[in-house]
Amino acid sequence: MSLETDLLDLAVDIACEAGELARRRRSEGVAIAATKSALADIVTEADREVEALIRSRLSAERPGDGFLGEESGSAGEGADVTWVVDPIDGTVNYAYGIPAYAVSIAAVSGVPDPSTWTALAGVVHAPALGELFTAARGDGARLGPQTLRLTDEIGAAGALLATGFGYDPATHAGDLARLAKVMPIARDIRRIGAASLDISYVAAGRLDGYYERGLNPWDHAAAGLVVTEAGGRVGGIGGRSVSRDMIIAAPPSLYAAIERAIAG
Ligand code: IPD
Repeated sequence: MSLETDLLDLAVDIACEAGELARRRRSEGVAIAATKSALADIVTEADREVEALIRSRLSAERPGDGFLGEESGSAGEGADVTWVVDPIDGTVNYAYGIPAYAVSIAAVSGVPDPSTWTALAGVVHAPALGELFTAARGDGARLGPQTLRLTDEIGAAGALLATGFGYDPATHAGDLARLAKVMPIARDIRRIGAASLDISYVAAGRLDGYYERGLNPWDHAAAGLVVTEAGGRVGGIGGRSVSRDMIIAAPPSLYAAIERAIAG
């Protein structure tokens, strides 16, 4: 056992309990609690309740750790380990009854900023799909019990790519212009609506690659480790690390092709 695998075991245990709560609340009906950055950016009562459950279990089991969550903000600045949490990624899917939503929990060391952190453990759990993606640093990536290992080949038909669009209507023109630049290397595009699943699907070979502008740290912290532990590359453009400006997740040669297309 290592620190990383201990953290992963705890994250999996909590993600399963949180996923069960999210699934139960969904079957009881969803209440929109508020809108956030834009009218389309919603938070449900379940997002808040699931994050509260995750946060209280983490603080009971690891009281010295920091926390950064989508719904309840940050605490414990300066801690060695910080938990980066999206209680329900794919909230709009959740609200509409589309099963592509996930609980995402990562443990990182250092300041919880994607440009400097070291991801230690991550779990992405899609309770309505019964799937669990996991990774611990240095210990590989898994879908359930199955080890994930990427190959670096793109078929002649082009890459199956996924992306997403920001909630702010002012960003849509830029997102669509970028999509037009990427289309020549794509065999087709998917917009699944949950970035943590898009990124995990790259690790599982269900998608060849993924890119998006505007993601927050909790959207990609856990899934990014799943991809790198599966042998893929996760970063920004021009040698920069992931930021709200851009995230690309893909096997190395496709990563470079997506980067060229976006920059072109
Ligand atoms: C969103 C989803 C979506 C992505 C957005 C995210 P949320 O997260 O991951 O796929 O396109 O950028 O904000 O709001 O459902 O937790």
